[in-house]
Amino acid sequence: MAKQDTTITVKPCPRLEGEIALPGDKSISHRAAIFNSLAEGKAEVRNFAPGKDCLATVSCLKALGVQISRKGPGNLLISGTGSNGLREASNVLDAHNSATTMRLLSGLLSSQPFLSVVTGDASLRSRPMGRLIKPLQSMGGEIYGRGKDSFAPLVIRGGKLRGIEFLLPLPSAQIKSAILLAGLSAQGKTVLHQPVPSRDHSERLLKRMGAHLESNGASISLSPLTSPLSPLSLCIPGDISSAAYFLVAGAIHPNARVIIRNCGINPTRTGIIDALLAMGARLRIENERLEADEPLADIVVESSELRGIEVAGDMIPRLIDEIPILAVAGSVAKGKTVIRGAAELRVKESDRIASVSQELSKMGVEVEELPDGMVIHGGRLLLGAEVDTHSDHRLAMSLAIAGLIAEGETTIKHAQIAQVSYPSFWQDLLSLQAEQSNTVAFSN
Ligand code: S3P
Repeated sequence: MAKQDTTITVKPCPRLEGEIALPGDKSISHRAAIFNSLAEGKAEVRNFAPGKDCLATVSCLKALGVQISRKGPGNLLISGTGSNGLREASNVLDAHNSATTMRLLSGLLSSQPFLSVVTGDASLRSRPMGRLIKPLQSMGGEIYGRGKDSFAPLVIRGGKLRGIEFLLPLPSAQIKSAILLAGLSAQGKTVLHQPVPSRDHSERLLKRMGAHLESNGASISLSPLTSPLSPLSLCIPGDISSAAYFLVAGAIHPNARVIIRNCGINPTRTGIIDALLAMGARLRIENERLEADEPLADIVVESSELRGIEVAGDMIPRLIDEIPILAVAGSVAKGKTVIRGAAELRVKESDRIASVSQELSKMGVEVEELPDGMVIHGGRLLLGAEVDTHSDHRLAMSLAIAGLIAEGETTIKHAQIAQVSYPSFWQDLLSLQAEQSNTVAFSN
């Protein structure tokens, strides 16, 4: 496993072939841990996401008095506390790099009768929390941040909340889920309207666990719980956001065939598949099935001739986390790839419009930065270069895939950050290479 401050060198390889067993979906894992912590009874969660983000959620829940233990590799046993079972933590809760941990837990903690302080690493402490704090305050929540956009650390004096009817100013599943968590124990209904539907894992899981929730995609109505949630044992589907690196690798590599097993294909998340198909990718979805109301499938991808496309509007929330790797696909595709309506990228783990443009430019790609996206003039040969991850896991993995098809060596600094979502990414990448000797090299 990559250690602190690891530099990784990636070289092109002649053939990319094999199967990937994906880590569990990060968004579903956070929610499965949090909701099962509130349930009455025990649940076994298999294929729980192994990255640092979801481990941060588990540590916070344990600090709040929830019993969570490992049951074999990748499996958690969660003993839900039922209603009123959470306890005040004896220390600050640390969400590390994970905005999902911070935002979802803040929604939950706003209704708990004790004081909580939630903090994170430097990146998370610079991300906007005003969008979270405002709706929670209008539910009666006492939650405060620091400075002009209410940055973390957040201080929460939990108490009685009232349901609200609220139009989300942006399509954010984190804010939506935070309000739903607050609404579970508020007085009266909580009704949310979304400008564009965002990922709906919270809605699916909460319904399945017995919450009175109705959703038509655009609007959601939640009644407060009259009895605790029922525990839900499940096997978390593979993370399509992690699959995206190998979907693009398979499509842009000139000699590739990659099979990705058990990949979540919830339609609110499959924008990357639709975008790659529109670009001309040879990609097949097989063996579709359901796990706890979440669809999953196997995906086969082969070397393809890609062409540039335009991505904007309702498509953006369906592939928001995949834009760095989509930009790599656009760099190889013939013609122009235009990404618009994605200003949210400026407040992710890095400013992804700036960081992706800067790093791909170093590899010889012609990229124009837009306030809300980028224009990539694709089709030129990528050149190996010394690149930086900007401490952003999605940059680390996207640049590695770019390095696989670039001429010469690509040296990725601070590559250990991939552990945030996909600790076995480097091993999985190596496993696809017929000649494994020197294609990925680690140094500290
Ligand atoms: C997530 C929602 C998205 C996404 C993030 C995970 C979630 O963030 O980018 O990686 O699990 O709810 P926003 O809610 O800020 O759009």
